[in-house]
Amino acid sequence: MTHVGFVASALASEGERQAFARRLGDLLATRPAGHSLPQAFYTDPAVHDFDIETVFGQCWLMIGFEVELPRPGNYLALTIGRTPIMLVRGRDAALRGFFNSCRHRGAQICADGAGRSARITCPYHQWTYELDGSLVHAGAMPEGFDKGMHGLKPLAVEVVAGAIYVSLADSPPDFTAFRADLEPMLAPFNLKDAKLAHEITLVEKANWKLVMENARECYHCAACHPELGITFPIGISPNFSADEGARLAAYRDRMTAAGLTVGPADGPWWQCARFPLNEGCVSMSMDGQPLVKKPLIEAYGGDTGSFRFAIEPHNFCHALGDHVFMFSAYPTGPEETIVVAKWLVHKDAVEGVDYDVPTLIHTWDQTNRQDRDLAENNQRGVNGRGYMPGPYSQEAEALVLRFVDWYAAHVAATVETALAGVNGTSPTLVEVA
Ligand code: FES
Ligand SMILES: [Fe+2]
Repeated sequence: MTHVGFVASALASEGERQAFARRLGDLLATRPAGHSLPQAFYTDPAVHDFDIETVFGQCWLMIGFEVELPRPGNYLALTIGRTPIMLVRGRDAALRGFFNSCRHRGAQICADGAGRSARITCPYHQWTYELDGSLVHAGAMPEGFDKGMHGLKPLAVEVVAGAIYVSLADSPPDFTAFRADLEPMLAPFNLKDAKLAHEITLVEKANWKLVMENARECYHCAACHPELGITFPIGISPNFSADEGARLAAYRDRMTAAGLTVGPADGPWWQCARFPLNEGCVSMSMDGQPLVKKPLIEAYGGDTGSFRFAIEPHNFCHALGDHVFMFSAYPTGPEETIVVAKWLVHKDAVEGVDYDVPTLIHTWDQTNRQDRDLAENNQRGVNGRGYMPGPYSQEAEALVLRFVDWYAAHVAATVETALAGVNGTSPTLVEVA
């Protein structure tokens, strides 16, 4: 397969795009149902281009929490694929998203990371923007230069009960049904009263789909995650349904009595479900006991199991009574993925008194590092001549299958759009069931 980026190269001819789309479609058609993907989907630079343009460039992505930008001037900058973006809290307290490319000659304005600034100034020639994205200073430009035409390009942002979602797409997928499912289930955690306690970025030498396949199953948990296995019910049904068994039924009744929806509630690209931890466990810790003295949720003093919410293509979170854990993956190369992990606790919890960071992060940080090793090892094997797509367990890998089928359907729909001759513009994401 030659390296012709599907839409990344604006210079690709319509014929080249269609030829690439046809090859991708043909390759996908070789995948037996219920199996992992053909090798090129995990290794090929052209597929990586395709993924960052048509998956990460079109879907909704979860990048963090509103409390990370508590005051006017707070910003959060990160790069998705090749696209730097930023979120900024305005003087009017509104949260806005912008493409982090200067409207002068395109330089990245804010370095990736978090910070606070009265205005947004490009480091190159000092063009300066208000917190609402409008251009307020551009030196040495001719008379009649219209600053009003050169504000920062806005980015689609949605906030749901404190969780921030962005999309790079001009026309993002409809968000309404996802919001309707997530909002009532997440709201009881009062995330406006939380704070970011810690954040870790891991670089994983593995394709993002291998990272996410790993993140969508617990088939490997008993053997590979001794810390997580203390509290995480590794045998729970793959969709986290709390319908089975007397203990799960009792959990459902107990949550329902407190007004907490259990679910599962899901849609084409999301899953939301509350589920109980192992017997006697109230948080994902080494002894099952809370990690933070001040709970986030009022019900039962925080003894509410875990609320898992996840979106394709790249994210899952666990909201526990005392903290929230977020995992978001971003492809940075055909065989490299960045995983951003964040931990939230109650804003009044005092570090060193009500919690300590090494203890708070231990279970998930260990788990993430174990998963990084598993994904990297998976990549090494997939790269070999001996690799061929293998069968997923319908039982233990149901959510992996769902993820891969979602991806395959997305590829198929995008290819179909391209072959229908949609004249070289970015293909529209087709929502797939
Ligand atoms: S590129 Fe930003 S001021 Fe010139
Ligand atoms: Fe894992």
